[in-house]
Amino acid sequence: MSKRTIVSMPGDGIGKTVLPEAIRVLNAVGFEADYVHADIGWEFWCQEGNPLPQRTLDLLEEHKIGLFGAITSKPKAEAAAELDPKLKDKGYVYYSPIVGLRQHFNLDICIRPCRTFKGNPLNFIRKGRGDTIEEPEVDVVVFRQNTEGLYSGVEWTNPPDQVYNALMTHPQMKKFASAPRQELAISTRIFTKKATERIVRAAFEHAREFGYKSVTVCEKPNVIRETSGMMLSVSKQIARGYADVALWDTNIDAQMMWLTKNPETYGVIVSGNMFGDIISDGFAGLVGGLGFACSANIGQDVAVFEPTHGSAPKYAEYQTPIVNPIAMILSACMMLDHIGETEKAAKIRGAIARVVEEGQVRTYDMMKLPGSPDVIEQGAASTTQMTDAILERLK
Ligand code: NAI
Ligand code: MG
Repeated sequence: MSKRTIVSMPGDGIGKTVLPEAIRVLNAVGFEADYVHADIGWEFWCQEGNPLPQRTLDLLEEHKIGLFGAITSKPKAEAAAELDPKLKDKGYVYYSPIVGLRQHFNLDICIRPCRTFKGNPLNFIRKGRGDTIEEPEVDVVVFRQNTEGLYSGVEWTNPPDQVYNALMTHPQMKKFASAPRQELAISTRIFTKKATERIVRAAFEHAREFGYKSVTVCEKPNVIRETSGMMLSVSKQIARGYADVALWDTNIDAQMMWLTKNPETYGVIVSGNMFGDIISDGFAGLVGGLGFACSANIGQDVAVFEPTHGSAPKYAEYQTPIVNPIAMILSACMMLDHIGETEKAAKIRGAIARVVEEGQVRTYDMMKLPGSPDVIEQGAASTTQMTDAILERLK
């Protein structure tokens, strides 16, 4: 096969630290690719008034596959203050470039696997009968609708006439009629049948391909009757085509309560945008947290792979980087799976599993130390030492 070109978007802070580590591992496993650097993040907001320049979109349009580190976002006032003086008061408005990427390329399917690595000191444990300690093996893959719902940005404070008047035709709006309009904040939750079908079908396909026995649709259809209701009814429809996979449905609130009671019971979970965000962080917390949480954003044409952690700016300044590169490396494994290099992905995951189980090399988060430059003296591995250990097991 011809050599791939991967668009490398390190972004800000520790994004710049962990992405090159993932490329070291990809090279070592024999994945042949060229990496083209693409600009994204805070410095491009400050210098150009756009954290996601057109040239970056063009590169992704051309090469289709991206690896992304993390970006820094700041609140509105701070964003405006840090803009180059030449660009001030010219109507530039900050937006999150990763959300921008998802919207621009319609990366509507977000996949967030949450799997226990044996021997990880961060694994969730619970008390069993007779005070025994149980360490359930979690293997959950969350499918989160990535472009619609509460995060689609259709929202107003002090809504304009047309919106206000239209809303007031709904009988349930009576209870808001006495509130001054400028004191009304409205965020909409819009689901389309097409996108709902795509995420649910992707979840069932994944369950079938990888032998998960259930797909759980995690929403709240008893209360949010239209959008959650649509996802549940679409799920029931699609489930008919998958006799080998059971359809379960849970409410998001109850699911969070059960999270620690029986996480090993669940396989694939499918949710709308916000509930998918919540449930995937919940499960990630059982298997090691941000140092282990990887994700894929997949559209019909373009796909971008990223750890779910942010840019952790205070750690980006350290002379010896201490953050855990595993979340980024696992995201690169998802990229390999996506482009059919499944053996290489499995090899890397195997190497990570060995490092974690052997327990000789642990980053500060795995040692449960507060992050500081001193953690190296306290025996924590640096970012590069962790990658080196993984590379060693790949040989
Ligand atoms: P964060 O994920 O950057 O960091 C939170 C804490 O998690 C860190 O202080 C550190 O203790 C730990 N952590 C994160 N990554 C780690 C790793 N690889 N290894 C070990 N420990 C790790 O979230 P925070 O502090 O809320 O946000 C910092 C910046 O990142 C903000 O500007 C925020 O907007 C942005 N952000 C960007 C995201 C993205 O690019 N997708 C996602 C989340 C936040
Ligand atoms: Mg989140």
